Amino acid sequence: MSFTGKRYEFRDKAADYAQLAEELAALLAGERDLIANAANTAALIFDALPNINWTGFYLLKDGELVVGPFQGKPACVRIALGKGVCGTAAATRRTIVVPDVAEFPGHIACDAASRSEIVIPLLKGAHLLGVLDLDSPLLNRFDAADQLGLERLAEIFMSLVR
Ligand code: SME
Repeated sequence: MSFTGKRYEFRDKAADYAQLAEELAALLAGERDLIANAANTAALIFDALPNINWTGFYLLKDGELVVGPFQGKPACVRIALGKGVCGTAAATRRTIVVPDVAEFPGHIACDAASRSEIVIPLLKGAHLLGVLDLDSPLLNRFDAADQLGLERLAEIFMSLVR
């Protein structure tokens, strides 16, 4: 399976993320259904970014993260707050970039191909909706430009959450 050759080459990450942000805003415009918007956001990111094997949402339900709309292989369903990369990003409410998942204590392996990961908490004011999670089969796939670009995409998604 090839994880490369998606729609953007990301040689100029800032420019490509800016264009992707416009695409996402247009895709979600006027729609407030959470599942519909999460599904389209995951699909757009997965389709656009090179070297990604999983993109999706974990949503906070009754105090734990439950898998939501995603693209990639089937994933673990429930993650406790504070556990794994997702639970840690949710508990600390900070984006976590993991250059090598083997080095992250408590990393939860869903797809054995994953080598690096970024998880962005989804906040509406003080309310935590869940997290946006991306996995890559490459080590050190996500840099500061990816973090900035993906946080912007998360912000566009959250702007449509009531
Ligand atoms: N690796 C994540 C689990 C979710 S999967 O990557 C889809 C974690 O450690 O929280």
